[in-house]
Formats: sequence, C-alpha cells, structure tokens
Amino acid sequence: MINLNNNKRTASKKKKSPGFIVTGTIGGAIMLLFAFTPIPQQSKVWTAPASAAKVTNPVASDSKSIDAGKIIYKNKCYDCHGKKGKGDGPKSGDLDKNPQDFTKEDFKKQTDGDLFWKISEGKKPMPAFKNELTKEQRWQVINYVRTLGKK
Ligand code: HEC
Repeated sequence: MINLNNNKRTASKKKKSPGFIVTGTIGGAIMLLFAFTPIPQQSKVWTAPASAAKVTNPVASDSKSIDAGKIIYKNKCYDCHGKKGKGDGPKSGDLDKNPQDFTKEDFKKQTDGDLFWKISEGKKPMPAFKNELTKEQRWQVINYVRTLGKK
C-alpha cells in the first residue's frame, strides 16, 4: 500500500519523467494483485523463528510429565486437536482452519522448541497459552503430544 501512496505523490509532481510514473504504477498493480490473490488457508505453513526452534525441552519425557501433559491436553487442547491429535476434536468443525495432525511426519520432525513457541504464541483460531499455562505445563503437554504419533 505504501507504493500506492508513492504513486500519488509522483503523479502530482509534474516534473518527474513519465517512465518513473509507469514503473510505479506497474509496481502498484503487482502489489494489488498480490494483496487480492486468495491464498488457500492450508498452504500457509506456520513456522517458528529459528532461535525458538533451538530451545531444548528442560522437562524429561517420563511418565510423570506425560501424565501431567495428558490432563492439560484433555482440558485445553482436546476440543480442537482431538483425542489422538488428528485435529478432529468436537470443536474442530467450527474452526475456519483445521488443526494439524500430530501423528504426521511433517509435524513430528519439528523440534520441541518449535512446538513450545507455537503453543506459547498461538495463531488464530489457536489461542496463545503463554499466560494460561506455565512453562513447565507447556513442556509437559509437548511430551504428551509426542506420544500421540507413536505406535
Ligand atoms: C480453538 C482450537 C484450538 C485449541 C483449543 C488448541 N489448538 Fe492448537 N491449533 C489449532 C489450529 C486451528 C492450529 C493450526 C494453526 C495454523 O496452522 O494456522 C493449531 C496448531 C497447533 C500447533 C502447531 C502445529 C504445526 O505443525 O504447526 C501446535 C503444536 C498446537 N496447535 C498445540 C496445541 C496445544 C498443545 C493445545 C492445548 C494446550 C492447543 N493446541 C489448543 C487449534 C487449537
């Protein structure tokens, strides 16, 4: 949109060469094209910043943390992500975007740091959990989510 304002300004300054105006207009047209091209929701990949991906999970993945994570999952995540993490929870039908399938390879290859960042920050319609769950709880729920893809 910045580009469009520039066009207006250049157009009003009569002294500028017409070539400049044409280039600006084409640039503006291309920008408009991008702004109005519908992007299918599912193709927008959600990636965590590289620095977040490097953060390691300080909570051991043992039965204690997995059990704690399971309770958190049931209370806070199950409605959308479903019992087995396939994104088919009872509320998933109401969402304008499908939650990812936690049992798929694309999901599993992400680091715990990736998941921690996503769970903390959220992305509409997925809520942010940084104020709702402690750091420890977020790591615990990650340890539980990791068990969903196994078997
Ligand atoms: C209101 C529904 C909803 C709730 C509740 C919810 N999520 Fe999500 N979640 C989503 C949706 C939708 C996405 C996909 C967002 C996107 O890609 O834009 C998502 C994405 C994710 C992702 C990223 C997956 C990926 O590969 O990018 C993780 C991890 C995740 N959720 C974990 C959780 C955890 C853990 C909880 C509970 C603490 C939770 N979510 C609660 C709807 C929800």
